[in-house]
Amino acid sequence: MSADTPTLDTVRAWLWAARRIAVLTGAGVSAESGVPTFRDAQTGLWARFRPEELATEAAFRRDPGRVWAWYAERRARLQGVQPNAGHHALAAFEQRHPGRMTLITQNVDGLHQGAGSRGVLCLHGDLFENRWLDVPRDCCRIDDACVGHPPYCDRCGNLVRPGVVWFGEPLPYAALDAAQRAARACEVMLVVGTSGQVQPAGGLARLARQAGARVVVVNPEPTELDAVAHAILAGPAARLVPELLDF
Ligand code: APR
Repeated sequence: MSADTPTLDTVRAWLWAARRIAVLTGAGVSAESGVPTFRDAQTGLWARFRPEELATEAAFRRDPGRVWAWYAERRARLQGVQPNAGHHALAAFEQRHPGRMTLITQNVDGLHQGAGSRGVLCLHGDLFENRWLDVPRDCCRIDDACVGHPPYCDRCGNLVRPGVVWFGEPLPYAALDAAQRAARACEVMLVVGTSGQVQPAGGLARLARQAGARVVVVNPEPTELDAVAHAILAGPAARLVPELLDF
């Protein structure tokens, strides 16, 4: 660590003095809950597929059963998974300091919400939500969809798909707009557990820096966002995030 590398205590002081804090999380914040990170997750029978080959509309239309089975397995693996100390520290800070923190996540695992975080900006949707593949007609009622792999509308054949954002799809406008506004308005942005490989989420850190915020990366490994960081805290989120936010 060079002499001018900000320490954890320096970053805590930045956060303590900040009226507005933005936090961007990725799969790494859930790693210590036992959830494989997005790019580590492909194991077993899915090992031969890259996420980019399954998490697309074209892949779903080509083979709805395979893509539905992949999401069903991801949902099943999350049963019983608990938020970790990093999730809880973020939720507790928000309760101690109402309105001071905006939590933006790329994760679809629901663990921030499970820890008690409210108003989470979910850029990539929610793994446990379903929606229609094609524009729903009057006959398409999601709660009455016929059981299938995937479920479907027995009147028009519309298919049910997971409520996540697939590669190549636009992010939910309201969530992205709020995230960009939070990035521009914050004094400190914590970037926790993301490789920064996916846009536009990864671009939020640069947006924050350009707007004058201090950017802090929390990650045990180097990331694409290190170049825009004022501080890099190399370590696991479940240890570092509670230490950073315990005020
Ligand atoms: N604490 C903090 N970070 C960790 C930990 C940990 N304990 N363990 C791993 N990491 C880091 C890894 O070093 C990596 O940089 O988490 C990051 C996970 O990166 P990815 O697997 O690329 O996941 P993510 O950055 O969230 O991917 C972003 O890409 O594929 C899309 O929609 C998908 O939301 C996902 C998005």
